[in-house]
This record gives sequence, C-alpha cells and structure tokens, in this order.
Amino acid sequence: MTGTETAPATFFTPEFFQDPQRYQAELRADAPARQVITPNGFKVWVVSRYEEAKAVLADPTVQKSGARMGEISAKNKVDDSEGRPFADELNQHMLAMDPPDHTRLRRLVTKAFTARRIEQMRPRIEEITAELLGKLTAGDRVDLLDVFAFPLPITVISELLGVDDEDRDTFRVNSNILISSGGAEEVGAAGQWMVAYFMKLIADKRANLGDDLLSALIETSEDDDRFSEQELVSMAFLLLIAGHETTVNLIGNGVLALLTNPDQLERLKADPSLLATAVDEFLRYRSPVNMSTFRFTTEPVVLGDVTIPAEQLVLVGLGSANRDENHFENADQLDITRPVGGHLAFGHGIHYCLGAPLARLEGEIAFRGLLTAFPDMKLAVPASELQWRFSMLMHGLEELPVVL
Ligand code: HEM
Repeated sequence: MTGTETAPATFFTPEFFQDPQRYQAELRADAPARQVITPNGFKVWVVSRYEEAKAVLADPTVQKSGARMGEISAKNKVDDSEGRPFADELNQHMLAMDPPDHTRLRRLVTKAFTARRIEQMRPRIEEITAELLGKLTAGDRVDLLDVFAFPLPITVISELLGVDDEDRDTFRVNSNILISSGGAEEVGAAGQWMVAYFMKLIADKRANLGDDLLSALIETSEDDDRFSEQELVSMAFLLLIAGHETTVNLIGNGVLALLTNPDQLERLKADPSLLATAVDEFLRYRSPVNMSTFRFTTEPVVLGDVTIPAEQLVLVGLGSANRDENHFENADQLDITRPVGGHLAFGHGIHYCLGAPLARLEGEIAFRGLLTAFPDMKLAVPASELQWRFSMLMHGLEELPVVL
C-alpha cells in the first residue's frame, strides 16, 4: 500500500477529539499507518502502533526542520483555505529542528536546565501547591483545571524563567490561543505578543542577571558558542509552552483517570509510595501530547505492509502507541502498579522531552497535595458529559468540575 492508493479520510472530527482512544484503536487494528486529513486540510500519515511509532521517532530520515516543513506542508494541502499545520511562531525552535542545529541548541540548554536546578525547585513547587490548595474548601464545587491544574505549572515555569507575577494571566490567554486550533490571525497575534514580551524580558535580564533559568541561558556558553538573541527568545517561548500546557493535562487527565477508577484511587490513597509509578501510568493512559508530533519523510519509510512515500507529513500517535495491546498488557486499563517501561508520552529519540524530570516532579507533588487535602474529591458531573478540547496539540479537558 502506498500514499497514492489510499484515499485520505477526514479523521479529526469533533467526535474524534471527544473520544480519541476509540478512533485510535480502530486505526491500530487497521494498519500501522494511514493517511488522513487534519481539520485545517493537510494530508498526514498517522502512525498508530507502538513499535512503528518508536521506529519513526528514531529514524533520522524522518525530520521536522522549519523551512522544509513549510514547503512539504504546502504540497500536502488538500484545499486552498488559510492555515498551516502549526503557527510559524511555534516552528522556530529546537523542537522544530534537525541535527546539527538541534544538537547544538540541546547541548547549550542542557547546560542551564540541569537536574540540580530542577531538584532545587522542589520546596518551591510544594509551597505553590500548598498555597493553591489552601485557598480551596472541602465540599466546594470547582473547575479543578482553573483553580489548580493551570496555575500550578504556569507559576512554576514562570518562576523558573523569571517571568513576573502580573504577566501570567496574559501569558495564559496567549498560550491558550497558540495551543487551540484557532484562526491564523489570532494565532499570529498571540505569537507576536509572546515574541515581543520575551525580547523585552531578555533585555531586562541582560542588564540585571538573576538566578533564574533565563539568566542562566543568557550566560551559558560552550567553547565559543552562545545562544543568539533570536534563539533565546525561541527557547524561552518553547520552554514556556512546553512546560505549561502539557503539565496542566497531566494533572487534569490523571485526576480524571483516578476519579473514574475508584479501585486505583483507593490503592493510591492507601499507599502513596505508588505515586511515582502512578504519574507515569497517567501519562501512558491519557497522554497529554496525544497526536501533535508532526514530522515529514525525506525518503520512503517502510512500516510493515505500508510504505509512506518521501515528502509526506507524518503524525506520530504517542497516545495511540501507549494504548497498543501488543506492547502493554491490558492497555486500556489504568494500573498504577504497572512497571514504568517505555511509554512514549515524553516522546523518544533526540527530541525526548527535556522537561520530563520537572513534569514528573510537579505531577508527584500535585497528586500528593490533592489526595492529602481532598481525599473525598468526586466528579461533579458524569464523566460522559465532560468536554475535551478541540486541539491537535493537546489532549485535555475544557473543564474538570469536581466537588472537593
Ligand atoms: C519535548 C511531552 C513537560 C520541555 C517533548 C516531546 C513530548 C513532550 C512528547 C517530544 C515531541 C516530539 O518529539 O515531537 C511532554 C509532556 C509533559 C512535558 C507530556 C508533561 C507532562 C515539559 C516541561 C518542559 C518541557 C515541564 C520544560 C520546562 C520540552 C522541550 C522539548 C520537549 C524543551 C523539546 C526537546 C527537543 O526538541 O530536543 N515534550 N512534555 N516539557 N519538552 Fe516536554
């Protein structure tokens, strides 16, 4: 089977976003990769099974660099509507680069974003968690995303980067626009706001270096190498977006998973030492980055009986791979005692999530805090009434109404 023989079908319908696991299971049963059309009119090959997803992520001929991505995207557009698979503003950073550019930037950022810096955040993350939970009262009905899952990671990543308190709400609004499948104009304006903001912040930091990550990035150098101004803006922007929206949904999707699996919730309450494996199981079970890992083929790629031709867009279904029954036993069941082994929620290969240790730390602290403060928390509406976001980038709820 090749691209020319397959009639692409519209796949990312509102029903898909409401229950992606169901549609992804059908894809996995059907073929290791299938060509479908995105809501904004791009033909993409979705790779749905675990082994193939991992192979594609490790394949150096499957790439993502910004300029060629634009050209290949244009070739794979099926209509003449406006839009790109991603806003350009989201395509200028390390996550949208191939070696050697990616290698260079990743090496530089790793020097500043160290395990030690993350571990130093622990007491502060505990404090922020306690402050947020301290404002809430048992028995109240709240949107847990609004009062907890959003503010925690944005406060953490903002403090890490050195972004001021008073700018956080505007950040939240703009990053939301960038993540949702919004109109090109709106997305462009949000991107420009971010770029302008970071340019100013970097100028301020240059004049007055602090002990935040952005100052460390400014100071970082290796041999004669440093970040350029543009690279600093892009890196700050990437860290903010990647460090914020994803962790929100780790918390939201994880809480939902527990509240709809009471046996697992009881088990975790009885033995909080299971938290570390539980967080990874939440990531596997409902992966926040479900279907947004765009790449393109530079050569034909053979996946079982399917050959993806060269110059095609590829979307690696991380969330789908994480439910592959051929890799995970009882893949559709939440099992917080499952050995953490090779889920793809943080990606795989050279772009493996830089922030995974921070995300795990935040997740662990968030769930421990929540379960201690509100052990009797319940969903305020039946799970079937919850609305999922219409977003190619993130798998997460619009709201998570709970009674604390
Ligand atoms: C890359 C997921 C939290 C920073 C990635 C990728 C995934 C991912 C799947 C690879 C994408 C691809 O290959 O196309 C997640 C999830 C998170 C999370 C599920 C939370 C639960 C964070 C945090 C930060 C962060 C907290 C930073 C503070 C990054 C960066 C990259 C990345 C910088 C790009 C790495 C590269 O291109 O080499 N993340 N992430 N992430 N993530 Fe995360």
